[in-house]
Amino acid sequence: MPAIVLVGAQWGDEGKGKATDVLGSRIDVVVKYNGGNNAGHTVVVGDEKYALHLLPSGILTPGVTPVIGNGVVIDPSALFTELDGLSARGVDCSRLLISASAHLIAPYHRTVDRVTERFLGVRRIGTTGRGIGPAYADKVNRIGLRVQDLFDEKILAQKVEGALETRNQLLVKVFNRRAITVEEVVEELLGYADRIRPMVCDTGLELSRRLDAGETVLFEGGQATMLDIDHGTYPFVTSSNATSGGACTGSGVPPNRVDRIVGVAKAYVTRVGEGPFPTELLDDVGEGLRRAGGEFGTTTGRPRRTGWYDALIARYTARVNGLTDLVLTKLDVLTGYETIPVCVGYDVDGVRHTEIPMTQTDFHHAKPVYEELPGWTEDISGARTFEDLPTAAQEYVLRLEELSGVRISAIGVGPEREQIVVRTDLLEG
Ligand code: GDP
Ligand code: IMO
Ligand code: MG
Repeated sequence: MPAIVLVGAQWGDEGKGKATDVLGSRIDVVVKYNGGNNAGHTVVVGDEKYALHLLPSGILTPGVTPVIGNGVVIDPSALFTELDGLSARGVDCSRLLISASAHLIAPYHRTVDRVTERFLGVRRIGTTGRGIGPAYADKVNRIGLRVQDLFDEKILAQKVEGALETRNQLLVKVFNRRAITVEEVVEELLGYADRIRPMVCDTGLELSRRLDAGETVLFEGGQATMLDIDHGTYPFVTSSNATSGGACTGSGVPPNRVDRIVGVAKAYVTRVGEGPFPTELLDDVGEGLRRAGGEFGTTTGRPRRTGWYDALIARYTARVNGLTDLVLTKLDVLTGYETIPVCVGYDVDGVRHTEIPMTQTDFHHAKPVYEELPGWTEDISGARTFEDLPTAAQEYVLRLEELSGVRISAIGVGPEREQIVVRTDLLEG
């Protein structure tokens, strides 16, 4: 099984990091293809807990080559902070490869991200404040800075000057901030050039050669389908393609080389930041899920909004990504409920919907229609086979499988590496 794409099937934080880590020793290369240090993946290995942001989770497995593809936006200061932190804990980061065409997050992108959010007030997106949106905006606007620009001071200065021309007008005249000088930005960025140079290569070519050689490559999506710039709940989304198509555009590997597409979904749903969330629980039950699931952001520490499983989102995600498999995580968190509601439809102003509504307005008005499934009380954290699960938990999984139309190949029953029930091998099955 040479190429496998792993994507978030909800609004992020589904446990993609753990799913990647579980596959770890059987893969040769892990590619991050979208987003930047807005991602937060918590991976628990024995007594050690790692929080990864810009680096792909596969970096934790010895022997795996981590790759940052062209679709990623890189904040060099965040890159080196993360690398230094992992190296200090004994993680070998020496194999890391970085695309020469990946865009850079400059200090002014972070500033613009934060002041824009403040300026938007009640209409804010609730971004992570890492400069992601402004960096992608510059990319699309063709005034972005790329990794390769770090190696030519003259070009870098020209590009920074071009980018700051309008940015400074905006910062000074609209946001009432001080102007940023070309020199300060160039000086900071050039300071990273020597250290990043040995990691930089034509990652598209490298991936193509490795696939030709029969290596197994995992494409790890940051964020998730419902946060995708095209297919998510726009404008309450991130600024990149987190869906499976992004794995190709963000890496230079074409769609016909992809063999399997795995979605990761929680057994319930969470969301960080603003935007519609039909099954959201704003009461004690939601608070209970937040506490039981430890639902606080890995990147910003914000409490995550919580709600019941939404089968319409699962089906939508399966369709837009072409999912071949689902990994269902955090089933253990649902232990102890008498019955568990699962959303099987929306009521939008009196009209029943069984697919995600076409318009933002309808999605904002969607009220969940629930089916109640029997719960269980047994501790399932020690389950290692499907048969180890209580019947009600098995039936919950089977009903979700039926509703989403995609086989549930693995089930998370705890945060640790081995706390997983595998029904179908993700690489061979
Ligand atoms: P990601 O962004 O998709 O990688 O997910 P995060 O790491 O942000 O959030 C998922 C959280 O759930 C992490 O703290 C994981 O350690 C934890 N986790 C993953 N799978 C399971 C599971 O099956 N059960 C429990 N209880 N926790 C899990
Ligand atoms: P992982 O990879 C959850 C959300 C932010 C905000 C919106 C836009 O850990 O699943 P941005 O800073 O990207 O411009 O913010 O997207 N967001 C995430 N939510 N998990 C993430 O990553 C996220 N990355 C961004 O909260 O609502
Ligand atoms: Mg996360």
